[in-house]
Amino acid sequence: MRDSLHPSSSSTESRLSADGPIILPALLLCDFGHLDDEIGRLEAAGAKALHLDVMDGLFVPQLTYGLVVVEAVRRAATVPIEVHMMVERPDESAIQYARAGADIVTVHIEGLAKTKKTLAAIEATGSQAHLAMSPGTPVSHVEPFLDNCSGVLVMSVEPGFGGQAFQPSAIEKIQKLQEIRTSTGRDFHIGVDGGISTKTITSVAHAGADLIVAGSAVLRQTDYADALRELEDLARKSK
Ligand code: DX5
Ligand code: ZN
Repeated sequence: MRDSLHPSSSSTESRLSADGPIILPALLLCDFGHLDDEIGRLEAAGAKALHLDVMDGLFVPQLTYGLVVVEAVRRAATVPIEVHMMVERPDESAIQYARAGADIVTVHIEGLAKTKKTLAAIEATGSQAHLAMSPGTPVSHVEPFLDNCSGVLVMSVEPGFGGQAFQPSAIEKIQKLQEIRTSTGRDFHIGVDGGISTKTITSVAHAGADLIVAGSAVLRQTDYADALRELEDLARKSK
């Protein structure tokens, strides 16, 4: 059933390994009354993947949406989707998002109890498992799990809300992960999420981020295509 919902992980990977960093618009700030239209607009604007923020009102103060909406996005979207789970006890629910067709299931290391087991369970479905780290979490906490996941998402704001200011401490973490990636020959994605704009994207792309989440920098702009193009150009030039 999963295969009919979303592409296999190898095809996800080929769609994520573009020339240069990929910008993932975060749907958090989209018009949820017209979800299909918004997804269509973003794809027409050139979005190569989408980022969905699942928040439970407990791990973070805001409550957004869950499986039903993720399934609806899966049906409407043709590009890979990343589900960023900001929930308590993700060990229990992550697998449901993988089965719902999330190409990437991103779980916070701060909330996991059985990190290796949960990452393995996600990857066994054919989805990619990524580990997210909040601003207060050092790289040393994710390092032991780099062989168990397909990517790390560095949060450059406290998780919970769109439109916050970028925290520059994220750059150092991206650099550190990039050093590990190069020195060990490992192949994992480095994502960044929060406060990305035309002012901040150059530094994160230069540091090594290849999956760059952008909420307000795309969804708060009148022309999604212009916004995406500008961000992509800046990210590419910084390399
Ligand atoms: C914050 C979310 C982000 C958010 C990004 O907790 O994880 O994905 O939507 O929004 P901007 O880009 O506006 O900071
Ligand atoms: Zn997010």
